[in-house]
Amino acid sequence: MHIRLNAFLNVMAALVGSLLLTGCAGASLTTIPPTTPSTLDPQGPYAKSIASLAWFIFVVGGLVFVAYTGVIWIASWRRRNARPGSAPGAEAPSLLIPIAGIAIPAILLIGAYAYTSSTAAAIPNTVPGALVVEVVAHQWWWQVQYPEAQVTTANEIYIPVGRPVEIHETSSDVVHSLWIPQLGGKMDLIPGRTASMVIQAAQPGTYRGECAEFCGVQHARMDLIVVAVPAAQFAQWLSEQKTVPPAPANAHLQAGQQAFLGSACVYCHTIRGTNASGTLGPDLTHFASRETIGAGILPNTRGNLAGWIVDSQGIKPGNRMPPMQMNGDQLQAMLDYLESLK
Ligand code: CUA
Repeated sequence: MHIRLNAFLNVMAALVGSLLLTGCAGASLTTIPPTTPSTLDPQGPYAKSIASLAWFIFVVGGLVFVAYTGVIWIASWRRRNARPGSAPGAEAPSLLIPIAGIAIPAILLIGAYAYTSSTAAAIPNTVPGALVVEVVAHQWWWQVQYPEAQVTTANEIYIPVGRPVEIHETSSDVVHSLWIPQLGGKMDLIPGRTASMVIQAAQPGTYRGECAEFCGVQHARMDLIVVAVPAAQFAQWLSEQKTVPPAPANAHLQAGQQAFLGSACVYCHTIRGTNASGTLGPDLTHFASRETIGAGILPNTRGNLAGWIVDSQGIKPGNRMPPMQMNGDQLQAMLDYLESLK
């Protein structure tokens, strides 16, 4: 009995330990900060109410754990120290224990249910005056659109600090789920349906989001970042994103543009102002203004970009981009051209 009790306690300790990992701290494969988006470090009003609920459930669950393991421990201790020869269950049976065993969990579960549903009900799906952002999930990246400004970008959502942001979201292929733990709740993106979720940031900063529904081999590398900036800076960013990039300023950039437009890139990517108008992959019109590539998994540096163009399958196996074959000069020119798309 004693050995079994120890084994039981070890299992329970492991379960509690795994509970402490709530919010997937460290679960992300990327090394780009912020790498550990935790539910327990909320940075906006909606995320805050979810964090309060998480703490409530954790504390109540912890008390239940302590109380019930205590009862089991006391029972086994009494059994071990019982007078020799006394039969188990010699005491008069008491109705109190089974009644308490039903009543206490029922009260706790009803309380947790009430708190959970009131928290969920208090987080709106739509807010008057909110900024609307449309997100379409793809295997394995995020298309981001600002319908009012007619701006399309990818894997990066700019938002103004202090203003609610309504994310209208759907999927182009399988079920995904968008979760930005520090700014709000989690919502599934389902093909053929549009759902709405509201996030809000109280402080400027960069917040990591990720796909929270298994969606294929690169599910774990389907990240995005949310950049919260003051309203004036957001307006400036949006107006820059609206512009069409100028024609290549010199022969070298022109060669880079030709390398891009003359290759298979144009079937999947859009660069406004050129004849590249594919929509299977991210819009690259202002590619160089983004901080990451590969859906939030790599810093947007020249070396990473070169590796991605030549062998994205080596970096993110199974993604939809085939390897691009070109010579060194073409690659360097294409890198310069893409890096000019601020
Ligand atoms: Cu998309 Cu998991």
